Amino acid sequence: MSSLLWAKPGIDVDADIQRFLAGDDVVLDREFIRYDVRASAAHAEGLQHIGVLSADELAAIQRELSAFDADVAAGRFVLDGRFEDMHSAIEAHLIERLGDVGKKIHTGRSRNDQVLVATRLWLRDRLQHAEVLCHAAAEVCLLRAEAEQSLPLPGYTHLQRAMVSSAAMWWSGFAEGFLDDTERLRQTTSWIDANPLGSAAGYGVNLPLDRDHTTQALGFGRMQVAATYAQLSRGKFELAALEALGSALLDLRRLAWDLSLFTSGEFGFVRLPATYTTGSSLMPNKRNPDVIELMRGVYASVAAAKVEIEQLLSLPSGYHRDLQFSKGAIVHGFGRGLAALGLLPKLLRELEWVPERMRAAIEPSMYATDLAVELAASGLPFRDAYREAANPERWKDRDPSASLQARVSPGAAGDLQLGVLAARWASLKPGRAG
Ligand code: ARG
Repeated sequence: MSSLLWAKPGIDVDADIQRFLAGDDVVLDREFIRYDVRASAAHAEGLQHIGVLSADELAAIQRELSAFDADVAAGRFVLDGRFEDMHSAIEAHLIERLGDVGKKIHTGRSRNDQVLVATRLWLRDRLQHAEVLCHAAAEVCLLRAEAEQSLPLPGYTHLQRAMVSSAAMWWSGFAEGFLDDTERLRQTTSWIDANPLGSAAGYGVNLPLDRDHTTQALGFGRMQVAATYAQLSRGKFELAALEALGSALLDLRRLAWDLSLFTSGEFGFVRLPATYTTGSSLMPNKRNPDVIELMRGVYASVAAAKVEIEQLLSLPSGYHRDLQFSKGAIVHGFGRGLAALGLLPKLLRELEWVPERMRAAIEPSMYATDLAVELAASGLPFRDAYREAANPERWKDRDPSASLQARVSPGAAGDLQLGVLAARWASLKPGRAG
């Protein structure tokens, strides 16, 4: 550990203890370091506004930060155990390049607000990415719902054959789900879009920091006003972000479950794009839906990340080093979650139905409910109609298309109201104010 910012004569540094303190933090900080650089530039501008840095000093710091950022982006600089964390790497770089000017960067800030602002910017980008992916998934679902309205699919409850459904009903359900997820992700983005930089160690500093400037320069929607709240929000905002991501992955989990049933030999309703399946190392006959199984499994990582952060948050106010572990949780949760959502639109676009198998799984009993409701609509009390419709003799001579066309309750096959969902999709286009 070469550059401990806080090293002073008379303080012993034990290698094992340093390793424990840093843990995998240096590696995790690779995720966040470019955000820390960006926030450092905004902080330097703020320092110049209040006279701590001259215009020349600011220009030198900005030049070095940009060069450093380019080195990180190009892989010429890789954060490793030479540094305690990303914060010390950035400061060490400025000092190495600029000497005394570099030593001024940390005026009025702490690693406590530095890590907050870097992780928050990171989270904001990840949430926006998740939002775009959910919006894209909803679009495919809507287009396919529109196109596949006359394709019957058995509808199940308790995994038992229940009523005639359609591919369009299946699609429209997930379309609306991913629209809700899009909206929730957007709301969460704006909920966490608050600037913690300038809260310093958690109690402010005796300088009139230009927090309005850093708020605006970093594109935050608002400043996190109370210096003490900045630390209270660490973990809490991470949790909210994981929850928003998690609602999309819960929808994905159920969708993937359907596909894993529907692609099985027993159902045979769906063929996956070849690239979304893998072979078996032993069984030459197999094509396995590994991709959709991993998509289904990813929710576990998000759930684990939420639990980890929840457990960490059992803390009094102020900064505590425990909070460092929240970074690993969001990196793992968002890493896997976004990877799974990233593969979703193409999967949805390319999966193929097998109409004959779907049709063959629709049995006459699935018309019983239609019949009962028909009889009730013609005046028979529903409970009597129900009994009469239980008679298998009465299920004959019906077909799925007629059943679907007659299903005119709003939101069902005969009145899908896809226009309503399409309008909502349009209103949620990324970039539009929420
Ligand atoms: N690695 C630390 C974290 O993630 C950075 C902040 C360290 N602050 C401190 N006072 N030791 O929390």
